[in-house]
Amino acid sequence: MNGKHEALWAIARFFDTIRYGYEGHEGYRKSTDLFKMIPCLEDLMTRGLIHPQWTNFLDLGCADGRVNLMMSYFVRNSIGIEIDKEILNEFEPRKAHLNRLLKDQKIQPIPENVHLFSGDSLEPGTHARVKEISGVSFEEMDLLYTYITLHDLFGEMIVEKAQKGALYMVYGFSRILPRYEGMELLIPDVGSQGIAALYRKL
Ligand SMILES: C[S@@+](CC[C@H](N)C(=O)[O-])C[C@H]1O[C@@H](n2cnc3c(N)ncnc32)[C@H](O)[C@@H]1O
Repeated sequence: MNGKHEALWAIARFFDTIRYGYEGHEGYRKSTDLFKMIPCLEDLMTRGLIHPQWTNFLDLGCADGRVNLMMSYFVRNSIGIEIDKEILNEFEPRKAHLNRLLKDQKIQPIPENVHLFSGDSLEPGTHARVKEISGVSFEEMDLLYTYITLHDLFGEMIVEKAQKGALYMVYGFSRILPRYEGMELLIPDVGSQGIAALYRKL
């Protein structure tokens, strides 16, 4: 059985053929480039900022859950919230398809720690539902993620509600980085990909 490294590359290859928002009218759901995400996650692991046994991860606008699937190998709980039900419905068939490909290639399957929810990430009721079903409250999230979407509003929510020291990874900015009151910029260029910055709640 091939391990985590092979799984990450297989997931990136799979989703590379179904990327959104790079042309046409779907910019609002632009997909993370998973090939760039691999070094970002390895960087966070090497620095001891995430751990498969304790990290609770939340993608605040998870779309088809692709970041969650990749993250599942690095964290304890890989949780996502998506406001558009139709987009969220793409998750299960893609996960099943991917798991078949991984099995055929004798690669480690996707861990059973991915929990995706339909709802608005800015609504407290959504977080209550996440807690009820996954057992993880918003206050227990260790790493929160967004691909630009509502990054400023999500930042305010994190400052208001998340635990001290919670990490916020914002994907999609390069040289000119946003600042959030109540957070410090911890790593301006996670994984040296020129695409993601990491903040920590003070
Ligand atoms: C730019 S896409 C990123 C998708 C995915 N995280 C990725 O990186 O590939 C942003 C997603 O956030 C969703 N979204 C927008 N506002 C939201 C909200 N308030 N709560 C939850 N999801 C939201 C959109 O429908 C869209 O699918």
